[in-house]
Amino acid sequence: MTTVAANPNILLVNVDLASAAAEAAALYTEANPKSLERHRSAAESMPGGNTRTVLFFSPYPLCFVRGEGARLWDVDGHEYVDFLGEYTAGLYGHSHPVITDAIRRALDAGIALGGHTPHEAVLAAAIKSRFASVDLMRFCNSGTEANLLALSAARLFTKRDKILAFAGGYHGSVLSFPFTAPPGGTINVPLPVILAPYNDLAATEALIAANAKDLAAIIIEPMLGGGGCIQAAPEFLAALRRACDRHGIVLIFDEVMTSRLSPGGLQQLRGIRPDLTSFGKYLGGGLPTGAFGGRADIMERFDPRRPDAVAHAGTFNNNVLTMAAGVAGLTRVYTPEAAVALNRSGDALRERLNELIRRRGARAVVSGCGSMMNVHPGIDRQPRTPADIAKIPGPLRDIFHFDMLTRGIHVARRGMINLSLPMTGHDFDRMAGAFDEFLSARAGLLAEAAGASRR
Ligand SMILES: Cc1ncc(COP(=O)(O)O)c(C=O)c1O
Repeated sequence: MTTVAANPNILLVNVDLASAAAEAAALYTEANPKSLERHRSAAESMPGGNTRTVLFFSPYPLCFVRGEGARLWDVDGHEYVDFLGEYTAGLYGHSHPVITDAIRRALDAGIALGGHTPHEAVLAAAIKSRFASVDLMRFCNSGTEANLLALSAARLFTKRDKILAFAGGYHGSVLSFPFTAPPGGTINVPLPVILAPYNDLAATEALIAANAKDLAAIIIEPMLGGGGCIQAAPEFLAALRRACDRHGIVLIFDEVMTSRLSPGGLQQLRGIRPDLTSFGKYLGGGLPTGAFGGRADIMERFDPRRPDAVAHAGTFNNNVLTMAAGVAGLTRVYTPEAAVALNRSGDALRERLNELIRRRGARAVVSGCGSMMNVHPGIDRQPRTPADIAKIPGPLRDIFHFDMLTRGIHVARRGMINLSLPMTGHDFDRMAGAFDEFLSARAGLLAEAAGASRR
């Protein structure tokens, strides 16, 4: 590692949250002039220079020019270990040779062929063989689309209207249910959605009972991803399964992120069989994708040979590049053995970071499961609900982010960390070292925030 985004040894003001955050932002700006230039020129043709909201952070985001393995380089020449892993889609790292080779071969054979190719059925069979609840499945182009289609399939099947989702859940750009409403609201599709509190069984069961005859589906992330890597309690998921059986409601697991957490997803780890599952992210080998599947009696309605068939269109549903990359990834790289090993590494890293916190008596927690985790600065206990992390001050999350970037570690602004396959023990050591420095340098701010959140 040659360069870092700013000098980490500089004496930080660190007196209070607001001035520490302002100082960190100033150092960041000083270290990233070319990213600023890119941001300004992008803003002339895109609102805020942005075309994907999650990538924006204040004062302006980095612009990356190259990735290789688990490394990233930005336009100012800084090198980072990529611990963001493209919000779980970057599972394979950058330019995995098996995947790039599969893409090149597909490219050479011609794209946009306007017909079926051998690839999609091979990928569907590979997914079906891994996810026990999937009898039949279909592809689409994003996780958002996968959820929209799964919800539509459930409404068609049950002939009911309403959806029960959870506050703090994220199912896509137009299916977003943030715990704290964003200032400008959301752009959700106008579905009749009832929001229940995540991991609150009594309240959720009451809502199900009150709406049972109108509920087509319950949709849940078995671990909140964007919501802070908060796991659903196994007994909570089991109770949802029972309630859905009792009332004829379709249980949808959104495993767009969490399907990577074992060979057969988080549903396998929890021993629960949803009726439908939505997929996306890494399943296309790093190219755009989405998929949904599950019970044959629900999915069969999409069979075009049936007289009562329902159409599901999508020009690029079976695009050859994604399908070829997905097959190579799932069958040759992210094998069941690789999935077990990567998630073990994630468990070990999370435990190591939490041990560093304990040793320093610092006020922070790392939540998550397997290869997905989230750092929560300024709280004392593992979060069980989105409310447990809602009070963390934004500037403290900003400081964590800046401090990690300064030390050459790329993470999400909200503290999310996702492992990728090319990572080595050396990368985990780098992460642990940077994290420990953060805990030490920011001990006062962490304690102050923890005190405030308890009041
Ligand atoms: C759990 C979950 N569902 C759905 C989506 C939407 O996927 P996409 O961004 O591919 O539309 C995401 C994206 O982050 C997600 O985390």
